[in-house]
Amino acid sequence: MSCPNFELVTLRGGGKSIRSVAHGETMHIGTDPVTEASELHIRQQKIAERGTLWNGPGPFAIWDVGLGPAANAVACITALQGAGVEAEIHSFEIDTEVLEFALRHSRELGYLAGWESAVERLLAEGHSEPLPGVSWILHRGDFSLMAPAVTPPSAILFDPYSPARNPEMWNFGTFQMLRASAREEIPCVLTNYTRSTSARVTMLMAGWFVGRGVPTGEKEETTVAANRLDLLEDPLDAAWLSRVLSSTNSAPLRGRLYGRDPISAEDYALLAALPQFEGA
Ligand SMILES: C[S@@+](CC[C@H](N)C(=O)[O-])C[C@H]1O[C@@H](n2cnc3c(N)ncnc32)[C@H](O)[C@@H]1O
Repeated sequence: MSCPNFELVTLRGGGKSIRSVAHGETMHIGTDPVTEASELHIRQQKIAERGTLWNGPGPFAIWDVGLGPAANAVACITALQGAGVEAEIHSFEIDTEVLEFALRHSRELGYLAGWESAVERLLAEGHSEPLPGVSWILHRGDFSLMAPAVTPPSAILFDPYSPARNPEMWNFGTFQMLRASAREEIPCVLTNYTRSTSARVTMLMAGWFVGRGVPTGEKEETTVAANRLDLLEDPLDAAWLSRVLSSTNSAPLRGRLYGRDPISAEDYALLAALPQFEGA
């Protein structure tokens, strides 16, 4: 008998989510898919407001990194309803099996209701148009090895598995590629569930400004990164920088293997010299 790769789980609040058996991780842990998408990504990114006010250049582009069962992507589509904006949602995914699983369990999961045909078309043809003017495009493959030549992002919903299970998505090269994809003239915000010191150090050293994000589910704090310091409500400051030295997991992630190490003196000097900590 073959072992299923995914299973439905009932969360503490009664909602349903999906667990990857291979990664040993439940998606949207501690909350349900819709709450996490809306608290962590849609509200912090101000998707509806920024979409409504968007005035170019080009379409309003959202990068959905780790499409998974599409809770974040569907939350974006819902937030853009009525915005009347020309938008593109670029979803990146290495394996769409979990989305196919979610589609088969759409009734139990709830959030895909009404969007099933857009998802089916996305899977079959690689793109769909869930709303007039809103294109949803699927990019299959290992995101950490891509250099996507698509519309530069205003919003990056960064949602892989954890660094321990999915290290290539959290390394310096991946955050550097993301940073290079964000254009200086387009304000860009990246939202993510982690509060790990090493992940934040890696983002900072890859050229992002980094701040604290809202609590969600069981997480007291999350992370927001941006290509401009003034986009952050709560930037990491001198007090955070001084605590990096006492953390045992503060070395930036390089390469494709996970490790937990304290930051080296050389990396700390580079970190402390970043514009975010000027005058700190
Ligand atoms: C936590 S799930 C995403 C949940 C999803 N964002 C949602 O809102 O429902 C992480 C996803 O990242 C995908 N992923 C992991 N490594 C990847 C890689 N190297 N390239 C692209 N996708 C990857 C996994 O296959 C998985 O579907």
